[in-house]
Amino acid sequence: MKVGVVGAGLVGATAAYAMTLRNSCSDLVLVDQDGARARAEAQDIAHAAPISHGARVGSGDYAALEGSRVVIIAAGANQKPGESRTDLLDKNADIFRQVIPQVAAHAPGAVLLIATNPVDALTDLAVSLAPGHAVMGSGTVLDSARLRWLIAQHAGVDATNVHGYVLGEHGDSEVIAWSSMAVAGLPVADFMAARGLPWTPEICAEIETGTRDAAASIIGGKRATYYGIGAALARITERVLGDRRAVLTVSAPTPEYGVSLSLPRVVGAGGIEASVMPRLTDEEKAALERSAAALRASVARLGL
Ligand code: LAC
Repeated sequence: MKVGVVGAGLVGATAAYAMTLRNSCSDLVLVDQDGARARAEAQDIAHAAPISHGARVGSGDYAALEGSRVVIIAAGANQKPGESRTDLLDKNADIFRQVIPQVAAHAPGAVLLIATNPVDALTDLAVSLAPGHAVMGSGTVLDSARLRWLIAQHAGVDATNVHGYVLGEHGDSEVIAWSSMAVAGLPVADFMAARGLPWTPEICAEIETGTRDAAASIIGGKRATYYGIGAALARITERVLGDRRAVLTVSAPTPEYGVSLSLPRVVGAGGIEASVMPRLTDEEKAALERSAAALRASVARLGL
């Protein structure tokens, strides 16, 4: 199966590299306004193919997207130190107004997977620019992974045994659904108590900060994030290609909130097959509404 990646910068190229190593798909094509960059990234990644699973990796213009089952949109500027994701909105929205119609025209049946930030507002914009396409954003899939990783470190278990979600905006207003967090099937506080591990509001606050501020911390040290998001994009793409019906907190239009945001959603061949509204405390519900309000303000700037 074929996957297109539009935007051969650090995020797009890393996602393509991750998919090559993970055997996510048989064919990859990279597209970028800088054709030389796309060719060089594709060639470099292609050299890993014989040493991994033999994917065919190439580059081209939008026409090369023909036949893609998924097209990852990673085109646009990324955050600089001190910049918020929302600061990128106007610049990246202009890029999307050029890119998305081209992708829609050349990959008519593809699921569009938005990675460019601010991902939620740009998911809404992509939906408006690609009517009839299944569109989702990477949303808080990466944030949920960061959260599970931090809890797993504290609990001394594998992150696959931590079940929990980050909801709402992929950004400063994101919401950790603590009330439904579980480790080994137990509510997180019960697990920690059973293991004799400390579990205090201060520890929760530290984990929440570590989740919410992870990108800013990494960007401060190396000017960009790309490995975590690259793996998240590969995971989401695999769930679409394999029709796996996996539950992932991808971003999509959410009528209850009038904007695209992240909730647990069943992801399969057609994109999002179903969405799940978690049981939330009143405090979590209020936080999610605040997150949605922040996103609606961003989307209003796009004239949507
Ligand atoms: C991050 C970018 C993908 O959270 O927004 O690393």
